[in-house]
Parts: sequence; C-alpha cells; structure tokens
Amino acid sequence: MFVRILFLIAFLQFLPDTVSPIWASGSDALESGRKTSQSLISQGKNLFVQYCAHCHGTSGDGDGFNAEYLEKEPAELSHKKFQAKKTNHQIFRAIQKGGEGVRKSTLMPVFGNTLSEAEIWALVAYVRYLGKDDAHPVFLPTGASTERPAGMRLSRKDIQAFAHWLEEEGKKDALAAEGEKLFKKKKSCFACHQLDDEGGRVGPELSRSGRLYRPEWIYAWVMNPQAYQPESKMPNMGMLPEEARSITAFLNSRVPEDRKFSDDLTPYLQATGDPEKGKALFYDPEGQVYCSKCHRVHGKGGEVGPDLSHAGTSRTAEFLLESILDPKAVITSGYATVLILTREGKFITGIKEVEDDSGMEIVDKEGREIYIRKEEIKKYKTQKISMMPGNFKDLLEVQEVADILAYLKTLTLPEFSKEPKPAQ
Ligand code: HEC
Ligand code: HEC
Ligand code: HEC
Repeated sequence: MFVRILFLIAFLQFLPDTVSPIWASGSDALESGRKTSQSLISQGKNLFVQYCAHCHGTSGDGDGFNAEYLEKEPAELSHKKFQAKKTNHQIFRAIQKGGEGVRKSTLMPVFGNTLSEAEIWALVAYVRYLGKDDAHPVFLPTGASTERPAGMRLSRKDIQAFAHWLEEEGKKDALAAEGEKLFKKKKSCFACHQLDDEGGRVGPELSRSGRLYRPEWIYAWVMNPQAYQPESKMPNMGMLPEEARSITAFLNSRVPEDRKFSDDLTPYLQATGDPEKGKALFYDPEGQVYCSKCHRVHGKGGEVGPDLSHAGTSRTAEFLLESILDPKAVITSGYATVLILTREGKFITGIKEVEDDSGMEIVDKEGREIYIRKEEIKKYKTQKISMMPGNFKDLLEVQEVADILAYLKTLTLPEFSKEPKPAQ
C-alpha cells in the first residue's frame, strides 16, 4: 500500500491541473481487494462502441477512423501512462464534462447531458479494462443516477419564436460569425462534421447545410438530438438557446454556389405532386420502387435505410429529391456500404451496423443481419455507393417522383407545422 502511494505521488508532478490529491477520491485505487464487476465492464463496452470508438479506436489506442481528421489526437486511453496518471474521478469528469469542462481540447465531446452517471461509470470501468489496469477498480458510487438526463424537447411555441427570430435577426453576418466560432472552436461540432475539406467524419458533411436542412430543424436538433433520435451518436451538448441560434445562423448561411445539386431538379420541383398517389407508390410491394421495403415510417416498413417518419420536417425538398434521384450524392451517416472479402474468397456487401474488437455486424440489402468475425475477414473497404437503387430516375416519371416528394413532405412532426394548433 505504502509503495503504491509513493508511486502515485511520483505521478502527481505530471498533473498540472490536479488540485486535490488523487488518493482522496472515493471509488478509487486504494480500495484494494475488490474488483470491477464484469457486468459494469460489458455495459461500458457497448457504450464505448456506440459513442467513443470512432475517435479513440475499438481498443482505446487512439486510432479510430475519425482520429486522422482531428487536429488534436484522441487520448490513447489504453496506454499505461494514461492509466497511471488519471484517477477514476478524472476520467469520469472528462467524459461527463467533455474537453471544454476539463480544460482539454473541445474536440472531446460532452456526454453528461446524454448518458446517465451510471453509464459514465461503466465507461470508466471499460477504459480501465482496455488499459488492463487492475490498480483502479471501478465501483458504482451509491446514489449514482441510472436515468439519462431528460433534456428538453422544443414546443411549438419555441419553434415559432425561433422562426420569428430568424426572420428578424437571424440573417445578420455577426451572428453567423459567432456561430462559426462556436462550431469550430468552442463546441465539438468540428470533431464530427466536415466543413469544406476540414473536420471529422462521424456525422454528415455540413458544407451545404443551408440547402439541405430546414433551419428550424437545425436549431431543434442541435439543442437536443436525442429528442428525435434517441440512439444518435451525436451527444446533447447542453447548448444555450442563443448558442444554438448562432450556430444555426452559421450553418444556414452555408449555400455554396459551386456545390449545386447533381441533377437539374427544376421540373420535379415545378410539378404539383399528389401525396396520396405518392404514398401508394411508396408502399406498393408490386411497384417498381417499393420504398417501404427499406424505409420505415411510423414503425411500418423495412430497416435497411433510414427512418423517414419526419423527413418532411427536417429535410428540404431539394435534399429529398436528390436522395431519390441520386442516392450516392449524399450517403446518410451510419449507412455507408462496406465491401468485405472473406478468407474463403467470398464477397459480402452491406451496411455496417456495429464494429468491435471481435468482428463486424452488417445488414445486407434484404435486411438480413450478418455477423462476420475478424478472423474471417481478409480485406474490407468502405464504398461511396448507396444500398439504395440508383435507377429511380429512369424508372419513374417526373410526375411520380413529384407524388412521392409530396408524400414525404407530409411526414412532419406536429410542433413544426405552420398551421395554428387545432382546438383540442
Ligand atoms: C469526436 C472524437 C471523440 C469522441 C467521440 C470521444 N472522444 Fe474522448 N477525446 C477526444 C480527443 C481529441 C481527446 C484529447 C483531448 C486533449 O487531450 O486535449 C479526448 C480525450 C479523452 C479523455 C482524456 C481526457 C483527459 O483528461 O486527458 C478521455 C478519458 C476520453 N477522451 C474518453 C472518451 C470516452 C469514454 C468517449 C465516449 C463516451 C469519448 N472520449 C469520445 C476525442 C473524442
Ligand atoms: C460525436 C460526434 C458529433 C458531434 C460532436 C456533433 N455531431 Fe452533429 N451529428 C453527428 C451524427 C452521427 C449525425 C447523424 C444523425 C444521426 O445520428 O442520426 C449528426 C447530425 C447532425 C446534423 C443533421 C441532422 C439530421 O437531421 O440529420 C446537424 C445539422 C448537426 N449534426 C450539427 C451539429 C452541430 C452544430 C454540432 C456542434 C454543436 C454537432 N453536430 C456535433 C455526430 C456529431
Ligand atoms: C433497397 C433499399 C432501398 C430502397 C428500395 C429505397 N431506399 Fe432510400 N435509402 C436506402 C438507404 C440504404 C439509404 C441511406 C444511404 C443513402 O443515403 O443513400 C437511403 C436514403 C434515403 C433518403 C435520405 C434520407 C436521409 O435522411 O438522409 C431518402 C429521402 C430516401 N432514401 C427515400 C427513398 C424513397 C422515396 C424510396 C422509394 C422511391 C427509397 N428511398 C427506396 C435504401 C433504400
């Protein structure tokens, strides 16, 4: 015990930002004789794969696919030095408060508004496991909350107030400049999103966001992604409404002239579509397109492609059209296609669902889930193609596309619609 304390003291000098002595923390090192529970570690593993591995790597070596796009290297969590110099509480705080809360790079996102305290402890346990560190067993402190922070969901009034603000002030250059600063420096957005040629690749590229997303949606989404997509990898960053407004003003100003849509969309936009006809096409198993084979709307339909239940609220007509006519132009994040060559010489292609140390789970275009172990994979690469058929433009008449578009536009969240609230 004594030797261990000396050892820790020796490390203290490398810790300029440490104020309190590290052996003082409750669930920490010197509670000797007890071990971290397996169930805490495996809960941590699932969370790590979902929220951390893209930057820190599945083994915590700091080499996730997104790491090369970051100006600051993600910490090598599995490294002995890292393990030795951090207490469990310090690791907990870094995850909970993000880089901005512990005076580290803001490229490390904040997770305390997204995950429960118990989940963050499970992550600490898994970080220790990755480092093969037995010296700091992790225990759930009594009273650690197991509930995820609720986060707020904007009401119709909030969204109308935002729309009003956008109209009055939202186009000012000063706001966009402030939003750019938040995006690139003060918040973690740049760690996951590409703008022009810089930035991370975890989420979609946002260089064209002024054309692709409705501003009300950007605002609502950024305030709380989990309200609309509980499993999103994008954490709730606990933003103040004015911060989210500036960021929206900035993203909404991004309408590059040289990044036009790949097709001329005018004839499709000018035709008047019939949503009922569009809906019939969408769900027709005998039809040429059968969108619902792959897409869910309000729980009905396949799971190969993204859920389209609120596509009309979040996407502009141009975005929706481009997705139908030229699916590979923008690959929805999380739906990249991988091509795998197995050791037996077989090719398998599908959408990568999960990847961890032992293998990869993919979904093929029939919606079948296939698990492939690492040892079976000879080579694999991510492809710039979509699992969505690329020939709808030839199969469908302009009028039919306009009908489908009209149907997609009806898929809205009630609080975003412009009509006054119906009497109850
Ligand atoms: C978008 C990329 C990204 C994601 C996602 C991410 N991190 Fe990090 N993380 C970083 C970067 C970059 C640093 C380095 C910060 C620095 O040294 O200034 C870092 C640092 C850390 C640190 C060390 C902080 C310190 O005090 O030195 C811990 C612990 C950590 N991350 C844990 C996690 C966990 C756990 C998750 C998942 C819940 C996660 N990170 C998700 C990019 C990321
Ligand atoms: C840890 C990575 C991460 C960080 C940090 C992050 N995002 Fe995202 N973002 C994503 C992912 C992944 C998606 C894809 C949507 C999903 O999860 O379904 C996304 C989607 C989006 C979208 C499109 C929403 C839609 O309807 O598809 C916008 C706009 C956006 N993010 C803005 C931001 C802004 C602004 C910030 C900073 C305040 C930010 N993001 C920080 C990962 C991140
Ligand atoms: C074989 C499966 C399949 C069929 C059939 C299919 N899609 Fe898709 N769709 C996908 C996949 C996978 C993606 C995500 C990859 C991408 O962005 O291309 C996608 C993406 C989209 C997107 C973009 C979603 C977003 O938010 O980024 C829209 C919109 C869309 N599809 C509409 C349709 C419509 C309308 C039809 C019918 C005319 C259709 N799809 C038919 C598989 C399919």
